[in-house]
Amino acid sequence: MYCVRNVTEDLYWIGANDHRLSLFENIHPIPEGVSYNAYVLMDEKTVLFDTIDWSSCRQFLENLEHVLNGRPLDYMVINHMEPDHGASIEEVLLRYPDVTIISTEKAFMLMRQFDFDINGHTLDEVKEGDTRCFGKHTVTFVAAPMVHWPEAMVTFDVTDGVLFAADAFGSFGALDGKLFNDEVNFDRDWIDHARRYYTNIVGKYGPHVQLLLKKAAGIVNDIKYICPLHGPVWRSDFGYLLDKYQHWSTYEPEEKGVMIAYASMYGNTEAAAQALAAKLCEKGMTNVVMYDVSNTHVSYLISETFRLSHVVLASVTYNLGIYPVMHNYLMDMKALNLQNRTFAIVENGSWACKSGDLMEKFIQNEMKNMTVLSSRLSLASTLKAEKANELDVLADAIIESMEEEKNK
Ligand code: FEO
Repeated sequence: MYCVRNVTEDLYWIGANDHRLSLFENIHPIPEGVSYNAYVLMDEKTVLFDTIDWSSCRQFLENLEHVLNGRPLDYMVINHMEPDHGASIEEVLLRYPDVTIISTEKAFMLMRQFDFDINGHTLDEVKEGDTRCFGKHTVTFVAAPMVHWPEAMVTFDVTDGVLFAADAFGSFGALDGKLFNDEVNFDRDWIDHARRYYTNIVGKYGPHVQLLLKKAAGIVNDIKYICPLHGPVWRSDFGYLLDKYQHWSTYEPEEKGVMIAYASMYGNTEAAAQALAAKLCEKGMTNVVMYDVSNTHVSYLISETFRLSHVVLASVTYNLGIYPVMHNYLMDMKALNLQNRTFAIVENGSWACKSGDLMEKFIQNEMKNMTVLSSRLSLASTLKAEKANELDVLADAIIESMEEEKNK
């Protein structure tokens, strides 16, 4: 049975929801599922915008056939070739061999690299600023390199103000019937999915997202719909979404707050982390969250680190090094180009306490524009009552640094 929804009178969402995939890109947990969005425009010519993941291809083809209702498929615009969108291209070609594929030079190169049999089909290579008319609708193409692969572009339907945004403005989470941002409580139910999607998938490419946002600024008043390849279609409240993207792509925190990420083998480092959290709250900083890095997938840690201004790293020493999962978290922060955060350090070691120096060195030497507070809490096995003053000093230092940043 087909499952489609109208976006506008003549534009249809023909994607699919996937609740069976447990790890997106085989690495990021998606307990709430994911949607693969594809769209078809029914004009004088029929135009498909992107395909979907192989896992949901059957549903997608049934949707496409239903909307076409016996008409041929004239064009297939490929904005992004990553297989969660491009994997079904060959299936479309098998069923609609006369379709013309519109895409970028690099995307055609990738199609061949993935061994798609596109030779013998009509290929229309486009670049930034090119336009195509399908009858009532004219579209223009905008290069979006590294958002989030090098071949990516976005397509703007200037007739109806529809931006086919590729991976930009997407989100984890299955749609489950709801298509538009105003059909969900995005700020309550979706923003964490959207942030975790952006920060882990596109987060490294903030400068490229900035370039795309600057290009979009020129047409922002003409945009009526944003159609991403994952998650809800936006038709209102663009300011909310753009503000989030502005923060994320410039690596500026959304909120003043403290994330305490702790690595604890027997509960002693965790107890110190809890004591610090209580102290911060007692002093009035109640926007505090705590994560055990051993049982929190790093994609959630990254998402929260993008959200908040301050991070406390509390780690045991392990094999004279940083506890492995804490090290992995730091490596991921570096890989994703995260910047502009203030760190405080809590270290623990029963005989050779090394983790604090090593974490500080990593932050200072491997990452950009980070601050490490000079106050540090050092534990020998467990937090003793005589350390109460040091705990107090560390909490004060965190709060004072927030005040200083506010006054800058
Ligand atoms: Fe959803 Fe970069 O693919």
